[in-house]
Amino acid sequence: MKSFLTLAAERYSCRAFTKEPVADEDIQHILEAARLAPTAVNRQPVHIWVVQAREYRDKLKETSAYTYDAPVIFIVGCRPEDAWVRKYDGKNGAEIDAAIVGTHIMMEVADLGLGCTWVGSFDPAKLKEVLPQIGEWVPVAMFPVGHILGEPSARHSERKAMEDLVTKL
Ligand SMILES: Cc1cc2nc3c(=O)[nH]c(=O)nc-3n(C[C@H](O)[C@H](O)[C@H](O)COP(=O)(O)O)c2cc1C
Repeated sequence: MKSFLTLAAERYSCRAFTKEPVADEDIQHILEAARLAPTAVNRQPVHIWVVQAREYRDKLKETSAYTYDAPVIFIVGCRPEDAWVRKYDGKNGAEIDAAIVGTHIMMEVADLGLGCTWVGSFDPAKLKEVLPQIGEWVPVAMFPVGHILGEPSARHSERKAMEDLVTKL
């Protein structure tokens, strides 16, 4: 079995996909990884929309320049009313919870040998217009997923040096 560090090192943002559909079994694995993600006080204030229908995928192109014609797009949303709130400063944990769910999605996609990109650049109002199913949920991220065609971008290998990232006290 691959170590987590190897998986983390191999994962990259994939921005081009073959036309091959993603198997239902793989979609279920991705969703299960999302379901297992930890959330603050286990509130699970998160929902996922799995967009496969061509009609909806085409509409998603109106909401973001970054859907990359993927055969399936996962959208992660959160509901701040359901989330844990830090008492000291009122910080709402919903988007953090959604980000952890999104990270589980991304890493499971990589573990399956598929590709995806975290997409934060979308128009939330337009997204709610084209997918009214989202309702009052707050969309946090989209994940176009498919079989890998693209290479890592130049940016992929740019990481801070350990000494710039970490302070040991
Ligand atoms: C919160 C977040 C938002 C992002 N939004 C986008 C996006 O809208 N479009 C896109 O192509 N990539 C997006 N990315 C991917 C990053 O550009 C990418 O992760 C970064 O450049 C490092 O490259 P790597 O993932 O290949 O290691 C996003 C990543 C994160 C974590």
